[in-house]
Amino acid sequence: MNRDSASERLEELYALISEANERYYGADSPTISDAEYDTLFRELIQLEKRFPDLVRQDSPAKRVGSGAKAAAFNPVRHRRPMLSLDNALNEEEALDFDRRIRKLLNAQDNVNYLCEYKFDGLAVELVYENGELMLASTRGDGETGEDVTANVRTIANVPQQLRQVPWLPKTFEVRGEVLLAVESFKRLNEERVARGAPAFANPRNAAAGSLRQLDWRVTASRPLEFFAYGAASETPLPAGGQSGLLRCLKELGFAVQHDALVAAGMDAILRRYRELEKERDKLPYEIDGVVVKVDSFQQQDQLGLRSRSPRWAVALKFAPREAFTALLDITVQVGRTGTLTPVAELEPVNIGGVVVKRATLHNQEEIDRKDIRIGDTVVVRRQGDVIPAIVAVVTAKRTGRESKFQFPVKCPVCGGPAARENEEDAAVRCINLHCPAKLGERLKHFVSRGAFDIDTIGEKLIDQLVEAGRLKSPADIFTLTFEEIAALERKGKKSAANLIAAIEKSRRIPFHRFIYALGIRHVGERTAKALAEASGSLEELMAMSPGQLQEIGDIGPKVSEAIRGFFSDEDECRTLRRMLELGVEIEYAALGRLTAGGASFAGELVVLTGILASMTREEAGARIEAEGGKVLSAVSKQTTLVIAGEKAGSKLKKAELLGISVIGEEEFVERLGIRE
Ligand code: IVH
Repeated sequence: MNRDSASERLEELYALISEANERYYGADSPTISDAEYDTLFRELIQLEKRFPDLVRQDSPAKRVGSGAKAAAFNPVRHRRPMLSLDNALNEEEALDFDRRIRKLLNAQDNVNYLCEYKFDGLAVELVYENGELMLASTRGDGETGEDVTANVRTIANVPQQLRQVPWLPKTFEVRGEVLLAVESFKRLNEERVARGAPAFANPRNAAAGSLRQLDWRVTASRPLEFFAYGAASETPLPAGGQSGLLRCLKELGFAVQHDALVAAGMDAILRRYRELEKERDKLPYEIDGVVVKVDSFQQQDQLGLRSRSPRWAVALKFAPREAFTALLDITVQVGRTGTLTPVAELEPVNIGGVVVKRATLHNQEEIDRKDIRIGDTVVVRRQGDVIPAIVAVVTAKRTGRESKFQFPVKCPVCGGPAARENEEDAAVRCINLHCPAKLGERLKHFVSRGAFDIDTIGEKLIDQLVEAGRLKSPADIFTLTFEEIAALERKGKKSAANLIAAIEKSRRIPFHRFIYALGIRHVGERTAKALAEASGSLEELMAMSPGQLQEIGDIGPKVSEAIRGFFSDEDECRTLRRMLELGVEIEYAALGRLTAGGASFAGELVVLTGILASMTREEAGARIEAEGGKVLSAVSKQTTLVIAGEKAGSKLKKAELLGISVIGEEEFVERLGIRE
């Protein structure tokens, strides 16, 4: 890059970063994500390093915050500047930090580090005189912040009076983070949206917005919390380092992170970092990484400070999970049971290494609750292997050109009517039994493993055949011929022969799998088995009354109604008859054998990973074993199935690498036969 273009780019970066700073520190509604900000900031620092004569006096790299002065609060000059932290974005950069520290300290051995949470809140300084809280201020630009004393006094866990310990310094400055717990954040957002106020993008913004209220009574109504992590005083504290300082702070009455880890060397710190990254969603507070601090004060002094950050600490960030992007459109997908699901079509955005293009919006209520409009800038969050979701709208970015989404009254695929089954239902369904979208999904279910087990047919071919009008009902599968499959684009003779053989083989099917294959709503594998056992034959089953059905364990009115509805439908009955005419042969097994042979995980070597919402891991393991499977702890080539819950990590990746089948919780529960 030459000098001219560097100068141009620097101007751009100054503007971008200043705007972001202003929003972050001032208006509490950021417009770029932390990760984007970090990238811009790094670029700025690198350019300034290469072209030092282009550095402006007011470069954001020289300052901590924006210096944005909110007129409403009195300025407070910090006695000592409130510094920021340098970031390490990955383990390699953390190791660089460790090498640098050891070199500067001339240390042969490991250095003792303290690993704290990097709380994602708002830095605040509290000043105590003779143990009494006198002043509380925000960080501001690092030199001067805002007086928020009245508001901070409303935070329940901020001591107004410190415990009278013998070593209590006359003037004592405490620094820490003001936070809103994740649960409180969610509750607050729900309340806000309910009364038409814009939702906060994340707990940090909510905490900042709550603290910077002109009326302290508003702050008092928000359950803010304060965690202390730093202090300064003229007289020494009985602590030789950061870990000792945390103990002192606790003794004085402050909340501190109780499980901050002291360890010799970076390896142990990195292990903790990895652990925490996996567990971060289980923590009651949002953290966006860990802060690694040289523990000993003596070593900290030796290392000293840079202009905006101490040399003795680094913020080791987690991979970002949220990003800002544009909501380009909302489309509607139709599932097997006809449920219409709105889907957010996003401007593709990289979130922690994964490009996200779509996010689920669940239903109209969700869209209304979050006031999501087409054209909005939104906060998208991805977590483990769950479908990305929209957390909030950045209302500050609204131009007025955004449009509200109208939920269709017609199915977007067949044009047939779509409606809620009853008032309380959040889901809108396509009512047309012959909707091709439903048909496609239904056929995919029909050929799935627990059903007719012809999944060699593949989803693409199903879609193709449905589109061509060749498959109008599941029965049509049994009319497919070798010639027509082989003639289809890219389908070779061999795969056509395999498919026809699979269809042939599938014609003989155990009764419970036949029932499951029909795709009756609420009838998973377990219910299908119960129905097979209780009825004994298709004819009997078709003739069962709602009362008789409800005598079968597990079946309630909703399920019995779905079953009755299915068998009273003319078209469904015609399809059933056709299947039998086309040579489908139902195997009616003896009761005992049915359960054993039909165990839904028979012979499977299963690995569980991630968190299941509906049951504990132990329970899941017990159920799999009861269904004939074996649960293993690690993924290997022998594994036949991986069940991935939320936040599944390396095991899921390995399974994908080895090409092992992976199912999510929904399918797992369905295979167990637990009803929706
Ligand atoms: S120490 C001199 N410790 O991160 C070191 N900061 O990017 C400055 N933060 O302004 C702060 N958790 O708002 C420290 N355990 C922790 C922290 C922490 C969160 C925030 C704090 C600070 C920012 C620096």
